Amino acid sequence: DRRGGTTEFALAAQAGRSAIVAGGEADTWGLNGALLGPTLRARRGETVRITLTNHLDEATTLHWHGMHLPAAADGGPHQMVEPGATWSPSWRVDQPAATLWYHPHPHGQTERHVYRGLGGLFIVDDDHEAALDLPRTYGVDDIPVIVQDKTFDSTGQLIETARHDNGMVGDTILVNGTAGPVFEVGARRTRLRLLNASTARSYNFGLGDGRPVTMIASDGGLLSEPLSLQRVLLTPGERAEVVVELEPGQEVTLRSYPQDLGLTDARARNSGAADELDVLLLRAAARLAPSPEVPARLAVVDRLDESAVAVTRTFELRNNRINDEEMDLGRVDDVVTVDTTEVWEVWNGHRQPHNFHVHDVQFQVLSVDGRPPPPELSGWKDTVYLPPEVRFRLIMRFTEHTDPAMPYMYHCHLLWHEDQGMMGQFVVV
Ligand code: C2O
Ligand code: CU
Ligand code: CU
Repeated sequence: DRRGGTTEFALAAQAGRSAIVAGGEADTWGLNGALLGPTLRARRGETVRITLTNHLDEATTLHWHGMHLPAAADGGPHQMVEPGATWSPSWRVDQPAATLWYHPHPHGQTERHVYRGLGGLFIVDDDHEAALDLPRTYGVDDIPVIVQDKTFDSTGQLIETARHDNGMVGDTILVNGTAGPVFEVGARRTRLRLLNASTARSYNFGLGDGRPVTMIASDGGLLSEPLSLQRVLLTPGERAEVVVELEPGQEVTLRSYPQDLGLTDARARNSGAADELDVLLLRAAARLAPSPEVPARLAVVDRLDESAVAVTRTFELRNNRINDEEMDLGRVDDVVTVDTTEVWEVWNGHRQPHNFHVHDVQFQVLSVDGRPPPPELSGWKDTVYLPPEVRFRLIMRFTEHTDPAMPYMYHCHLLWHEDQGMMGQFVVV
């Protein structure tokens, strides 16, 4: 994939009104609209140039979650876009086909900005994925499923203050900004690009009729082979692509089931982990277009070489700190050498739910408490759930982009925790 060319995207962050639930309209934020933003799409090898104009009355950013790019284009808390200002990052896309996403990252305000509605999918395509027999007609048999939870008052307005230890856990589930969503299925097999874009809630996805789904991709791209799963757990920021098969005339609901996050019962309830929720009704037409079977081999996921590891770092997440440090925009926590492979040993030394996300790279999970990872964690990941007191060894390779003056972030993707300071900064030199 060495094609050139530049694709330009214009995004305008703006305030608007959205009728989401009965009772009235909510004040929401969106990109080029009142709520959420367009799906961006680029091919590996292409250069993308974004023009983001901020029409809000406060500063924000847009971060390209999962993307390998220069730190100055990353859209983290160092790339604030003031009201009325325009920011134009550009980079060459060079990573496997994947379902990535974008969302704001203003330090201390990320939860609120995402909750209000800023965000969207960023799909990367490549020649390898394009040659596979997979559903890929966007909006027809390949659909974005951006899952979020919110709480509304009786006038349909968003409630932004219902916060537990872990942030806001809403009682209304939205898909792509719609409550009570229905998708009219027109093909035998449908690919769902699942994104947990909630600020705090995790989802344990499964089909209401008890059949499994076929998982084909994790955060950073295709798995090596399809995986038949009863449940797909996604914590905030994580993605999975799944293929579901329906018979003509069939209706099935994608649901979220109670999940084991390794928490005590009370904490599990506070985090929404005990909830059973309808997410998306899939309603098949009386006649369905045929779809090929999911290929038995999807991709070659080259294993990063543990014997080549130059540096091992450890990160403990606890009390809204990482290694006992609160995020400080003026402090660089880690200096990484380009073209090296590192192991990051990460654990949650706390009884609250946390996950761990790293900017710029996709990593592989080497081990979970010394054991090989489960198959759903065997592909490329950029965010991983950390049950309390379980050690994760993550391996990652830093390439191409260096900037001694501009850091990338790593953090818990429960956005209230991130806002409270559970975040650190690294530079690649
Ligand atoms: Cu999805 Cu640093 O974020
Ligand atoms: Cu990110
Ligand atoms: Cu956390």
